[in-house]
Amino acid sequence: MSKEKIALFTIFGGTGDLAQRKLYPSLFKLYQKGYLKEHFAVIGTARRPWTNEHYHGVITDSLASLNADPATVAKFAGHFYYQSHDVTDAQHYVTLKQLSEKLDAQYGLQGNRIFYLAMAPNFFGTIAQHLRSENILTPNGFNRVIIEKPFGHDFESAKELNDQLTATFNENQIYRIDHYLGKEMIQNISAIRFGNNIWESLWNNRYISNVQVTLSEKLGVEERAVYYDNSGALRDMVQNHILQILSLLTMDQPVEFTEKDIDVEKVKALRSLRPLKPEEVATNFVRGQYAADGDVKAYRNEDKISPDSNTDTFVAGKVMIDNFRWSGVPFYVRTGKRLADKFTRIDVVFKRPIVNIFNHDDVRENDDAATSLAPNVLTINVEPTEGVELRMNAKALGQGFATTPVKLNFAHDAAATANSPEAYERLLHDALNGDATNFTHWKEVAYSWKFVDVIQKYWDEHTPDFPNYRPGSMGPDASDELLRQDGHEWIYKE
Ligand SMILES: NC(=O)c1ccc[n+]([C@@H]2O[C@H](COP(=O)([O-])OP(=O)(O)OC[C@H]3O[C@@H](n4cnc5c(N)ncnc54)[C@H](OP(=O)(O)O)[C@@H]3O)[C@@H](O)[C@H]2O)c1
Repeated sequence: MSKEKIALFTIFGGTGDLAQRKLYPSLFKLYQKGYLKEHFAVIGTARRPWTNEHYHGVITDSLASLNADPATVAKFAGHFYYQSHDVTDAQHYVTLKQLSEKLDAQYGLQGNRIFYLAMAPNFFGTIAQHLRSENILTPNGFNRVIIEKPFGHDFESAKELNDQLTATFNENQIYRIDHYLGKEMIQNISAIRFGNNIWESLWNNRYISNVQVTLSEKLGVEERAVYYDNSGALRDMVQNHILQILSLLTMDQPVEFTEKDIDVEKVKALRSLRPLKPEEVATNFVRGQYAADGDVKAYRNEDKISPDSNTDTFVAGKVMIDNFRWSGVPFYVRTGKRLADKFTRIDVVFKRPIVNIFNHDDVRENDDAATSLAPNVLTINVEPTEGVELRMNAKALGQGFATTPVKLNFAHDAAATANSPEAYERLLHDALNGDATNFTHWKEVAYSWKFVDVIQKYWDEHTPDFPNYRPGSMGPDASDELLRQDGHEWIYKE
């Protein structure tokens, strides 16, 4: 069977940053691998009055870093068509429909449509409404819409956005991007958990002490200042990426590894998040904002940021999950900008042995019998290293008998990971296949917002003491204290 996929992509926001940096290179890689061949076309639309020729130049430039064969690039770019279009103007959809039908006939696209909304979300409703009213959806073939984050800024706005989309598309036609779900090691969580009896049988509150999820960024707010200042780390990272990762780490075993079964289990996990009461927010969540340090500007002095902004550039939190498997196990999460390094990792910290027989005096004198043995830690390195590490105790080399932590380490080969598809390439391929496993479903979004809204509301009502952390650190001291008060500590330290 041919692996070629057949579709017309309509990219709203075709002149934008996301389209140029992510979408065009990803489509090209699918083309190089033969998933896209003769039977595909792309309409890029935005307001700028570009010609097709200019658009081809933009496509070619966006692929420059791939050092591809120029003839292949030219052939690929030949499938792209530009239409100047204001999404609020109904008349433009008439032209869009005509062009779509012409390209469908020209390339044999069988009525298959993917609409990629690479624009600000306040336009999603208008676009969806016009796609319906102007009859742009096809009666034969598939119609799928891919949308970018943010999906609302709280539960109410997310619901409103969802209502607008579902007036045109069914839930199974909506592909909500969370690019973390396209990452190799995030997808690997399920293989590690459900493919290995040693892990799945220990994956519960009897053996696990706590779990730590860190999404750390080294850069500051950069060019996304206006968006970020209205969002902050909690909304930008916790509501979506971190809670999605938590759902994959904590869900029960799906009956089968299918989109439907996985979604059922993820929703159950997210429903089990213990909601915080307003008075519990301050003791369970820490917010931060970076200060200045040498040449590094404070967040409040960044371009386009108000000097009295109270936006959080760091969050750490303790999340509890109320179900049989996880009752009593804290999940500590943290993310922030201008931290010590850029990486994403998950540390699963196991309980220590009940008795430390190697240090019996210590046992007799100390209530916490096993304090001198380090806990086993399973670390899933998501990026930049992609691999798994296990810390365990072994005998220290030489005379006498002392234990010391050692590491078993697996990392994917750097050359192999360089050739493995990037998140957007995987996700576009999934959307072409009609597989929304690695996209966020509405109920997941809804439960995530409900959890986050309480925290955000409490923060909005209380003035923070910002700035409160040094660039290059791992956030404010209160983040360490959050774990210390439970007798734990972050596995990754500066
Ligand atoms: N960039 C990223 O890395 C990234 C990462 C995660 C999520 N996202 C999300 O992806 C979406 C796009 O982001 P972006 O960074 O690509 O934004 P961007 O560079 O500002 O692009 C916005 C696009 O929308 C077009 N546009 C604006 N108003 C329009 C109108 N009335 N009618 C038609 N077109 C209009 C712009 O083109 P004209 O000015 O020519 O009309 C441009 O092509 C956003 O939802 C963002 O939150 C982006």
